[in-house]
Amino acid sequence: MNTNIKKIAVLTSGGDAPGMNAGIRAVVRTAIYECMQVYGVYRGYQGLIEGDMVELKSKSVGNIIQRGGTILKSARSEEFRTEEGRAKAHEHLKAKGIDALVVLGGDGTFTGAEVFSKEYNIPVIGVPCTIDKDLSGTDHTIGYDTAMNTVIEAVDKIRDTAISHNRLFFIEVMGRDAGYLALRSGIGVGAEAILIPESPTYIDRLIEKLEKGRRSNKSSGIIIVAEGNEEGGAYKISKLVKERFDHYEMKVSVLGHMQRGGSPSANDRLLASQLGYNAVLGLKDGLSGVMVGKIHKDIKFSPFKEVIDHDATINEAFLKMVDVLSI
Ligand code: F6P
Repeated sequence: MNTNIKKIAVLTSGGDAPGMNAGIRAVVRTAIYECMQVYGVYRGYQGLIEGDMVELKSKSVGNIIQRGGTILKSARSEEFRTEEGRAKAHEHLKAKGIDALVVLGGDGTFTGAEVFSKEYNIPVIGVPCTIDKDLSGTDHTIGYDTAMNTVIEAVDKIRDTAISHNRLFFIEVMGRDAGYLALRSGIGVGAEAILIPESPTYIDRLIEKLEKGRRSNKSSGIIIVAEGNEEGGAYKISKLVKERFDHYEMKVSVLGHMQRGGSPSANDRLLASQLGYNAVLGLKDGLSGVMVGKIHKDIKFSPFKEVIDHDATINEAFLKMVDVLSI
């Protein structure tokens, strides 16, 4: 089907992710190429509620592919969760004659998109942008690769000082509900242990591991703790360990929002360009209520509902591998 979409809007919502700008650029330029007019909405759904939008031309998105953050700014809108809020948002779209929407964000963004799209029968396509990678329907999300590299660079530096002072570091990595970033980056830095929300934390086992390391003359170590770890973050875990094992001087580093910033990696630029481009083609083909993703080498469109209810299981083989590789 070839729809008659003439005007679209694009917005970024939720936590920003490196590569969002590359995604915006791809959406805007593809739409213009397809003879559509494009509006950029500022501050996500909140900006939509307030009618805060401008028309974007091809030049408006020049020189942004390499920039972190989002030129459209982002927000988490409580008001969009209400019927009244969404009604205001719809009024602004109607007033501008906008036929369809492309939203860049994560699960919260797509939850809002799903409701809005059904409520007002307006075509919406999502582009997955989150450093947490907690969506199905795509192998990778935009921003994840860059964030992983940021974590690896930071932890490598911390390891230098850990070794110099014979210290044990507990490093907290972002991931409120998902441990992908912590797990993959932890493997990349050769962490002694990785604690994530998807797997229970056994303090006994951790201490046993540290004891073993000490017996084999390990003089320092790195424990990666995902922010959403059930037993607690890096401060809490370091305290629990210290109560029963005090052979090292212990330090805590919370990497925080630096993980969300920075120039996007090559992989994220490529993924954002491909997904932004295909999001517009999807709209043109009459798709709605779906997220565009990439699985293996193929572009796939999956219903919002499916990508949000993602399977939170983690690759157990990876956790086993961490144990083996850190002996
Ligand atoms: O972008 C996702 C995420 O980084 C989570 O891992 C983290 O818990 C959350 O965002 C923090 O977001 P904010 O700083 O916007 O509250």
